[in-house]
Amino acid sequence: MSQPVEPELLSADAIAGALQKLQSSYWRVSVVDEIDSTQNYLRTSNPKTGDVITAEYQSAGRGRLDRKFDAEKSSALLFSFYFEPENSISNLGYLTLLVGASVTATLNEATNSSDFKCKWPNDVLFNEAKIAGLLAEKTSTGVIVGVGINVSTAKAALPVAHATSIFLATNLQLDRNTLLAKILANLEGDLQEWQSGRDLTSKYRALSATIGCQVRVELPDGSSVEAVAVDIDETGSLHLDNGQLITVGDVIHLDSKLSQ
Ligand code: BTN
Repeated sequence: MSQPVEPELLSADAIAGALQKLQSSYWRVSVVDEIDSTQNYLRTSNPKTGDVITAEYQSAGRGRLDRKFDAEKSSALLFSFYFEPENSISNLGYLTLLVGASVTATLNEATNSSDFKCKWPNDVLFNEAKIAGLLAEKTSTGVIVGVGINVSTAKAALPVAHATSIFLATNLQLDRNTLLAKILANLEGDLQEWQSGRDLTSKYRALSATIGCQVRVELPDGSSVEAVAVDIDETGSLHLDNGQLITVGDVIHLDSKLSQ
């Protein structure tokens, strides 16, 4: 496998131009070179709905459950957006799944693949290897959602052994400006549909690597359960074949797609 070439730098103009071509007018994207975390930035900058920030490098990138999220400079697409629902939406839990499905569908489109899948609740996988992670954090008025995608990361720079990058998985070196615009344009459509009351769970089911798997779920209290994941619902919960509904937890795929 060849090494990735030097990536194009992020550019606010290039992203705005690509969004315009895609007829997406919802987002305002700022680019920074270095920041602690794009999540922290939005939390402290009094954002408006549709504000997006993307960075070449984060010195204190965060993952779920207070984990670190590290990425070598310019090798990943790291961004956060602020979204304030038009109506009061009670099932904000579904938002992480909605964004995960939008990102996954866009990666499949952009690489002409069908191998990118969603792992409940917040990862995107390529053949069971993690390629992206999502983090949704509520504020008093809306949600800040952060996405980190390994784009051109070389094998030696991967943060964990079970991770991969778009480059390693597909041998394609995608331009992050165009990729971000495509993700945001698709997301705009999905968020609009969701706000209008459309049930998007079937879209998620079609992209899920978890539904149909024998899984181990590690729960926040330290206990774990093994069962088959059978479904998700419009609140974002995962349903197990033992009748349990999981709202928070880490999922490990033990035996993929028993049902297919
Ligand atoms: C996870 O895998 O647990 C979630 C990772 C989320 C990482 C993204 S990168 C952009 C945004 N800023 C952060 O500090 N975290 C999110």
